[in-house]
Order: sequence, then C-alpha cells, then structure tokens
Amino acid sequence: MIKFQSYDDNRGSLVVAETEKEIPFDIKRLYYIYDVGSEAERGFHSHKKLEQVYIGIHGRMKVSLFDGVNKREIVLDDPKQGLYIGHNVWRTISEFSSDAVLLVAASEHYSEEDYIRNYDEFVASLKK
Ligand code: TYD
Repeated sequence: MIKFQSYDDNRGSLVVAETEKEIPFDIKRLYYIYDVGSEAERGFHSHKKLEQVYIGIHGRMKVSLFDGVNKREIVLDDPKQGLYIGHNVWRTISEFSSDAVLLVAASEHYSEEDYIRNYDEFVASLKK
C-alpha cells in the first residue's frame, strides 16, 4: 500500500499524492466510481499496459487481485492510502459500502484495446 502525506488539523484533513513521489507513473487520467449497489461487482478485467493507483477516498470497498500466481484481497477504507495495480493483474471490486467513492489514477488515456475482459484470455496471456 502507498501511504500519502496528510495534513490534519481542526479544519479537517488534506491528503496529497504526487507523481514521482507516491504515484509511480505520470498520471494521464483520473476517474471515480460511486453509487455502487451493495451487491454489485465491478472490474473483471486486466490491462496489458496500464498501471493504476486505487484510492478509496470515502467509504469502503474490497479489491481482489490475481497476477497468475498470487491472489490478494485488500479492503480500501482509508483515504490516506493507495493501492498500486500494475499491468497483467486480474481485478474485481466488490462489497462497496453505500457511501463508497473509489478514485483511480491511471498511467494512460482510456483505450479499450488495453483491456482483457475474458478470464480465459487473461490466463492464456500470462503463459505467452
Ligand atoms: P468498465 O471498465 O466496465 O468499469 P469497471 O471496470 O469499473 O467495471 O467501464 C464502464 C464504462 O465506462 C465502459 O463503457 C467504458 C467506459 N470508460 C470510459 O469511457 N473511460 C474510462 O476511462 C473508463 C475507466 C471507462
């Protein structure tokens, strides 16, 4: 997990993430996901090239990762932490709290060609 610098005082909290410091790539894109139903699951893909940092800036969600060897489950519930996800990692996101907001910093612009959305294709791609 990446720990962000935070500035907390009686006015609230301010959290900073900078490229070349906490974020290990140049950020080309941000997106965020919210209003997710408690039963909904998202993701179910890997990326050929894209790197991302997931930040659970509000509420709670569970991220499940599989790189072909290791499986990991990470609960994101701390806005001061980020989860780095490299390329060739299958991810699913589930168990969103009703107030959950997931902010994602990405290393590339959106490209559907960079996605592998079929699990068998993902497994086959690792053997190449
Ligand atoms: P999708 O990849 O299915 O979301 P998730 O992985 O969280 O389940 O994306 C949902 C839709 O949004 C899909 O039609 C593609 C579109 N989209 C963009 O146009 N640009 C983006 O940067 C992202 C992340 C998604």
